[in-house]
Amino acid sequence: MRWRLLCLIGLGLFIVGACGAPAAPPIATAVVNQAATMSIAERVEALLQRMTLAEKIGQMTLIEKNSLTPDQVRELAIGGILSGGGGYPTTENSPQAWAAMVNTFQQAALESRLGIPIIYGADGVHGHNNLYGAVIFPHNIGLGAANDPLLMEQIGRVTAIEMAATGVLWNYAPGVMVPQDVRWGRAYEGYAERPDHVATLASAFLRGLQAADVVAPQRVIGTPKHFLGDGGTAWGSSKTENYALDQGETIGDEAWLRAVHLPPYQAVIDAGAQVVMASYSSWQGTKMHASSYWLTEVLKGEMGFTGFIVSDWAAIDQIDPDYYRAVVTAINAGIDMNMVPYDARRFIDTLTRAVQAGEVSEERINDAVRRILTVKMTMGLFEHPFAATELIGQIGSPAHRELARTAVAKSLVLLKNEQQLLPLAKSIPHLFIGGQAANDPGMQAGGWTIEWQGKTGPIIPATTILEGIQAAVAPQTVVEYDRYGRFSGDPGADDAVCIAVVGELPYAEGRGDSAQLSLPPTEQRALQRMEEACARLVVVLVTGRPLLITDSLPKWDALVVAWLPGSEGAGVADVLFGDRPFTGRLPVTWPRSLDQLPLGSGTGEPLFPYGFGLQP
Ligand code: BGC
Ligand code: BGC
Repeated sequence: MRWRLLCLIGLGLFIVGACGAPAAPPIATAVVNQAATMSIAERVEALLQRMTLAEKIGQMTLIEKNSLTPDQVRELAIGGILSGGGGYPTTENSPQAWAAMVNTFQQAALESRLGIPIIYGADGVHGHNNLYGAVIFPHNIGLGAANDPLLMEQIGRVTAIEMAATGVLWNYAPGVMVPQDVRWGRAYEGYAERPDHVATLASAFLRGLQAADVVAPQRVIGTPKHFLGDGGTAWGSSKTENYALDQGETIGDEAWLRAVHLPPYQAVIDAGAQVVMASYSSWQGTKMHASSYWLTEVLKGEMGFTGFIVSDWAAIDQIDPDYYRAVVTAINAGIDMNMVPYDARRFIDTLTRAVQAGEVSEERINDAVRRILTVKMTMGLFEHPFAATELIGQIGSPAHRELARTAVAKSLVLLKNEQQLLPLAKSIPHLFIGGQAANDPGMQAGGWTIEWQGKTGPIIPATTILEGIQAAVAPQTVVEYDRYGRFSGDPGADDAVCIAVVGELPYAEGRGDSAQLSLPPTEQRALQRMEEACARLVVVLVTGRPLLITDSLPKWDALVVAWLPGSEGAGVADVLFGDRPFTGRLPVTWPRSLDQLPLGSGTGEPLFPYGFGLQP
């Protein structure tokens, strides 16, 4: 009921037309309603029996939301629709518009001949991060530093609530990569460099996200990604754009892959993972999307994964320049649903031809569709396909922001603290704060925030780190802020302390692969000014990964790593001023020099080892 009301308000004629009364979905409902007498497996089988080849291939198709109209979704009996990074509604980026967008597609799917609901997906990798107004949690590397499974479970629940409110019941998270080279533009999407550490946090997050009691009646499911070895690629091995590491070739023999990259998958399967996303990367010259060994023999066979495997964004296309060959290879390797993302008909026609030519068997198609329908039925999608709009009021709520603030505080890692400079007294007379990252919501959120690559500036409602500090100090404290570190007061005075909050500019995926691991030039200059002028200097790094700071470190009195904390910058102030303790520990080794990358290379000690973190 509620969603239809939403459709009617404020969405213009196009959508109003599509928001009519939900038609009774005839066949699927009739089958699904046999719950009293038939198991899920039996109902899936009964539904499968009634499906044409076209309807089956439709279920195997996941399409980007701007690439198909609701009418086409109905006609083609599409299985899934997604918002990519930055895939907010074209009308406006509000919860209501998201819910209306998803519900409109859902309505169309329910009006298809069989009435099988679509599953709508997006990357909620640090909260429902494409949605304006959602709470934005620290990126995973920060949560790896916090290393608190209970916190992870709570973050999973909150993420599920905010997503379900908008009808996005499928989350492309958690990232369970085990990054071995922090130059990778996705290093921050991984919790830690050690498999056991990743396994514990990812499975806790997934349990919270998928908890049955969270968003009753709607249920959200997660997608551990990217299978397998995405965090272990060799520098310079990528063939995508000008990427260096991302989507490249994974280093190591099979024993190494099994020891480092595989364990988190067993943990998340045991925690109830129902979908796994394949990796763009390759191993021994074969794209993971083409590897029946890893996808079918290992994941579905040996590891007992009964859910479905979704491809990554246009990743099948990378297998072979001949699209037909690419599709045949991927589906036969074990990909069940193809994230197309743009041209649904091309994929559907190609796979149809392959089945007709006998190059993909009907059994393989049936297996894929059976897996997809089983997941949809198990999560209750047939009974509750629409957005849980009654939860909209909870999006970005004070309670959710409080949880994120706690997560930020727990994620901070103290690496240096000369003369116990930290925590600072709130009554400190003069504070000089510099750096763009001190007052930039987009920088503190990083990539995968509103836009795929993220964006600097006030792109989300947030408390910046500067605002957090201003709120924490005593009323008589004089706080001077200058982004460039140029102050009118005297930062060299005996009673003054400087805080340089400097950081990386937002990035995502291979665009963030970095040969330098350095701060952007303007941040470097601000920092330099402060190094020269300040009597006592605290440096707070806002970064997705360790940066090379070996030469600068001696000039700093204290160093705090804040990672990419997200919308609640006050969590940083909580720890700087002693309201909460420093408890975070490095989830990754901090290299002294570039030759120490990837992990285990080079000689000598790292600057700081995995697990390091001072606790004053
Ligand atoms: C990324 C995935 C993501 C997908 C959809 C891909 O480029 O590799 O992690 O889930 O896009 O946004
Ligand atoms: C999408 C992302 C996707 C990327 C892959 C972008 O346009 O928004 O979700 O991961 O393309 O290239």
